[in-house]
This record gives sequence, structure tokens and C-alpha cells, in this order.
Amino acid sequence: MNLWTESDHAQRYLDRRTSYPHRQEGYGVVLELITPAPHRVLDLGCGDGEVIGRIVEHAPGSGGIACDFSPEMLERARARFDGSGVQVVEHDLEVPIPDDWGTFDVIASAFAIHHLVDERKQQLYREVFDRLDPGGIFLNLEHVDSPTPELHEAFLVAIGTAIEFDDPSNKLVSVETQLGWLRDIGFEQVDCLWKWREMALLTGIRASGA
Ligand SMILES: C[S@@+](CC[C@H](N)C(=O)[O-])C[C@H]1O[C@@H](n2cnc3c(N)ncnc32)[C@H](O)[C@@H]1O
Repeated sequence: MNLWTESDHAQRYLDRRTSYPHRQEGYGVVLELITPAPHRVLDLGCGDGEVIGRIVEHAPGSGGIACDFSPEMLERARARFDGSGVQVVEHDLEVPIPDDWGTFDVIASAFAIHHLVDERKQQLYREVFDRLDPGGIFLNLEHVDSPTPELHEAFLVAIGTAIEFDDPSNKLVSVETQLGWLRDIGFEQVDCLWKWREMALLTGIRASGA
């Protein structure tokens, strides 16, 4: 089940987004890891363009591709990036990254990939590796699994919701498992560079010789 193509679901997220505690810290660490030089950026599951928008502000001259499959989100992202170097593209993350998108030195995603089943998540991580320029970085600010049901419930309470309202679109995986996937694919400098409860920033680099 993935509710994100429904306009109401997208709207509810946008209304609540700024109320999630600590979330801004995660976006802040993403920027800390990117030099202020121009980059070619891919934002996977861009929503209204939150991550790539912050990167372009932080590193003027950057551009690239922002993709999502929600009509509501795409409309907002298109309005936001009209006339800029960011191309907004309708794309379902269930489908491989199109060949004609080229390569990127920054591939970012925020709170999107956990909507895919685990096999597709791993396949997408492989596609990301293939699309990174040598030395390029993958930054996945993600909703990750808790080690116990009690900690999962405590996370939901901490963000102002409850287990009965848990999003059925979520397919959460632990930090440890995902870091293992990234290492197995060949990413280097793999780490979780920020975490608050179920929100984590998973990163890896495609080495220059890889
Ligand atoms: C929690 S929102 C995050 C949006 C944005 N990245 C941000 O940081 O605000 C999740 C986004 O993932 C998108 N998404 C979920 N499943 C997707 C899929 N299969 N293909 C493309 N986008 C997807 C949703 O439409 C939504 O915009």
C-alpha cells in the first residue's frame, strides 16, 4: 500500500511537516556535507522540493532533477522551481532511474525510500551507486525502523501521533541493515551521520576509482 498519490495524504504531510521535532537538524546535516560549489543533484521522492531546494540555496548554481509521483507534490515543486536549473519530473521510484537522466555528484532523498519494499530499496541503492560520479555522495535522510515495538510507539508519540494512525505506506528498515546494504553495493565512508529516534541520515560515497 502506498497512499502518497492521494492528494489528501500529501496535504496532511505538508501541513504537519514543520511540527516534527528535530527534523530541521537532519536537513541541516545534509547541507553540512555538501560544499557550497555548484552540484548536479538528483532528489528522489522530492515532494514539494524541500531537499533539492535547500541544496540549491546552499550551493548557488546547482541544478538537476527532482522526481516524485504525487500529482499534488509535483505541482508544488514545479511552481517552486519554475525557470530555475531544477527540472521536476514525474517518476515512480518503483521503476529504474531512466538512463537519459545522466549522472550526478549529489543524490539526495528525504523520507521517501521507506515506501518501497526492501528488494526495490536495495535495487534503487544500486542504481544510485551507478548514477553517482566518482567522488559523488548519496545522502538519504530516512525514516528507519526501531529495534522494538515499544520504541516505535514512543517515536510516534514523540512526533505527536499514535500507533492507530501509523502510516500503512511505511516499510521501515533498521539503520544497521541499510548501512550493510550500502557497503555491499560498494559505497565507501558509509555511516549514519545523524539520528533522532526513527529519523536518520544514511550516507555513502562512490570512491573516485569505483
Ligand atoms: C514524507 S514525503 C517527503 C517529501 C520531501 N522529500 C521532503 O523532505 O519533504 C515522501 C515523498 O515520497 C514520495 N513517494 C513515495 N513513494 C513514491 C514512489 N513510489 N515514487 C515516487 N515518489 C514517491 C511521496 O509522493 C512524497 O512526496
